Amino acid sequence: MFKWASWFGSSDTEKEIVSPNGRNKCTVIIKSGQIFYKVERDNKPLINVSKLGFLISGEPELGQNLKAVRLVSRNHDEEFEMLWGEDKIIKNQYRETAIYLNESKDPRRIFTIRFRVFNDAVAFRYEIPPQPKFQQISVADELTQFNIDLNTIAWKIPAYQPDRYEYNYEKTSVYDLVHSVHTPLTMKTPNGYYVSIHEAALYNYGSMTIKLSEDKKLKADITPLSDGTKAHLSLPFETPWRLIMIADSAIELTTNRVMYCLNDPPKHDFSWVKTIKFIGIWWAMYVGEWTWAPGERHGATTAHTKEYIDAAIRLGVSGVLIEGWNDGWEGDWLENGVNNSFTKSTPDFDLPEVARYAHAKGIEIVGHHETVGFVDNYEKQLEDAYNFYAANNVHYIKTGYAGSQILIHGRREYHHSQVGVNHYQKTVELAARKHICLDIHEPIKGTGIERTWPNLLSREGARGQEYEGGAISPSHACYLPYTRLLSGGMDYTVGILDLANSVKRMSTTLTRQIAYFITIYSGMVMAADRPYIYEERFPDLIKFIRDVPTDFEKTVPLAGEVGEYYVVARKAKNGDWYIGGVTDETARRVNIGLHFLDDGAYFAEIYSDSDDAHYRDNQFGHNISTRNVSKNESIDIYMAPGGGFAIRLSQSK
Ligand code: NOJ
Repeated sequence: MFKWASWFGSSDTEKEIVSPNGRNKCTVIIKSGQIFYKVERDNKPLINVSKLGFLISGEPELGQNLKAVRLVSRNHDEEFEMLWGEDKIIKNQYRETAIYLNESKDPRRIFTIRFRVFNDAVAFRYEIPPQPKFQQISVADELTQFNIDLNTIAWKIPAYQPDRYEYNYEKTSVYDLVHSVHTPLTMKTPNGYYVSIHEAALYNYGSMTIKLSEDKKLKADITPLSDGTKAHLSLPFETPWRLIMIADSAIELTTNRVMYCLNDPPKHDFSWVKTIKFIGIWWAMYVGEWTWAPGERHGATTAHTKEYIDAAIRLGVSGVLIEGWNDGWEGDWLENGVNNSFTKSTPDFDLPEVARYAHAKGIEIVGHHETVGFVDNYEKQLEDAYNFYAANNVHYIKTGYAGSQILIHGRREYHHSQVGVNHYQKTVELAARKHICLDIHEPIKGTGIERTWPNLLSREGARGQEYEGGAISPSHACYLPYTRLLSGGMDYTVGILDLANSVKRMSTTLTRQIAYFITIYSGMVMAADRPYIYEERFPDLIKFIRDVPTDFEKTVPLAGEVGEYYVVARKAKNGDWYIGGVTDETARRVNIGLHFLDDGAYFAEIYSDSDDAHYRDNQFGHNISTRNVSKNESIDIYMAPGGGFAIRLSQSK
C-alpha cells in the first residue's frame, strides 16, 4: 500500500505500482514539482525516467509546480467477452493508481494521471476536469516521453507521409527515430524484452506518433491540425491511454489484448453484428479486366454483380463487395472525387435490384463508399448514403479515403488528426444506428474501440495486397503480426491465387495466400481474387476458403520473429483448429507440437509449399495432404522462400 503521509501535499516523492504477477513495476516520481514515470520488468529497466505533461496554448506548461494531493489505488481482475475476434475471453487484470495533482502556484490547475500496471503492459492517461478559467483548451503539445535506451531496436513505418500508414516496415534503432513514426511502435530492448508503444481508446484527439526529441528521448508527437495545434478540447477530457505492451518474446507480444481492456464494453445491443467473408468486384479492376469507371469494361454492373452473387453461393462465402457502382469515377477519379455521389448509381447498376437478388439468395451486399478523402462532400451525404444502403438491406460498407490528406471543414488535414478521428467516429456511430458494419480503408489506426463499437469490423490501414506487383516483399506480412496487427484486424485482401499475372505479380507462393486467412485476422475478409480463378484454376483450394472462419474462440501464438516468420493456431467457435504460417525470403521448417488441441482424434488437412516452391520462380508448387493427429503429436512443415502453410484440424466424428 502507498504511504498517504509521504504523498499528501508533497512535492518530492515516489510511488511504485507493481503488476499482479510482480514482474512489471511502474514508478511514478514527483521531483521539483514535475511528474515522471519509469518502467522496469524483472527489476531491469524498460522505460527510463520519462516526463509527463502538456503545453496548453496561451497557458503555462501543465506539468510544473505540481503536488500530489490524493492517491487512489485499486486492484482489478475480471474476464470479459468480445463479440467477435481472435479471442473470445479476455483477461483484464491490473493494479491501478490514480494520482491527483494540483499546481502549487497560479493558475492552480488540477488534473489526474491514472496508471494501470498489467502483467503484460503499463498504461496511463491524463484526466483533466473543468475548472474556473480552464474549460476550453487547445493542446499545443503533449509532453509524454517514453525514454527508452537509444540502442533499442525498432521496427518503424513513417508518419505524415502521403500514403498514410501504407509503408513497408524498416528495422532501425531508437537512435534513428528522428522523424515521427506510427504506433504500434514495436521494439526490442538491449536486455531482450519486446515492447510496443501504442494507444487505446482514441477519441476526439490527434493520433499519437512517436519521435526522438532533441534531448534524445522518445516522445509523443500528436498529429497536428492545420492550425498547428494538436487538439481543441472542452473539459472534462480524458486523453487516450498511453499503452506500453511488454513481452518476453516477439511471438508472445502478438496476442497482447490490453488495448481492448482499456476500452469500454459496448453501450448498445450489437447482437446483430456478424463477421463476414466475401468476394468483391475489385481485383478484376486492378488487373485491368474491368474498370471502376462506367464504359465497356465497367465492373460494377447489375449483371456482373448477379454473377458474383451466384459465385459467392458456389464458393461458400457470404457476401459480395461492389466498388465503382456510383457516380464520380469518370476521368481522374482522384481529382473528381470531390463530387462523388453516394446515392446515385451509374446507369448500368441497379442497387435495389441486386440487393433484392442477393437477399433472396441469402447473400450480403458489401457496399462501398470511396470518399477520396473529400470528407466534407461525404458528410453532407452521410445520413442519406447510409439510409440508402439500410433501405436496401445492406449491412456492410467498405469505406475509403484515398489521397494524402482529407478535406474537412474546408481545410486539408491529416487523416489521423483530431478532426479525422472525429469523422471516422461519426461514421462508426451512424453505421451502428443503421445496423451497418464497417471496413475502413485509409482509416484512423485501431485503438481497440471495436470493443465498444463492434460494428467496426475491420480496417485496411497498412500496406495491403493492392501494393503487390513490386512494392511488397515477403517480409511484409511477417512484420504485420508484430506491429500493425497489435492495433486490431486488417483487411489485407487475402487469397489472390492468380499469382503470376502480368499486371500484378504476387510476391508469395500459392499456399501462403491461403495462410493469410489465418495469419492476418480480420472481421471482414475478402477472398480477393476473381471467382473464375478459384473455380477454374484452383478448385482444390475452395474447400479451405469456404471452411476457414472469420471469428475465433481463441488464438495460440506458436513461433516467430519480427519480419522473419510467424506461426499461429486459432480455435474456431465450432471447435475446429486452424494453423497458419508465413516466412520471409528464407525457407524454414517448423515443427508444430499440437499440445493445444483438445483430447481425441483430429483430421488434418494440410496445405503446404512443395520442396521446390519459391515466391520468385515456382510460386504454384504445393502439396495438399491429410492425416489423423492427436494432441500428443506434432506436424513438421516446410515453408518455401516467400511461402507459408495452412492447416485445418477438425474433430473426427
Ligand atoms: C484506393 C484503394 O486503395 C483501393 O483499394 C480502392 O479500390 C480504390 N481506392 C478505389 O476505391
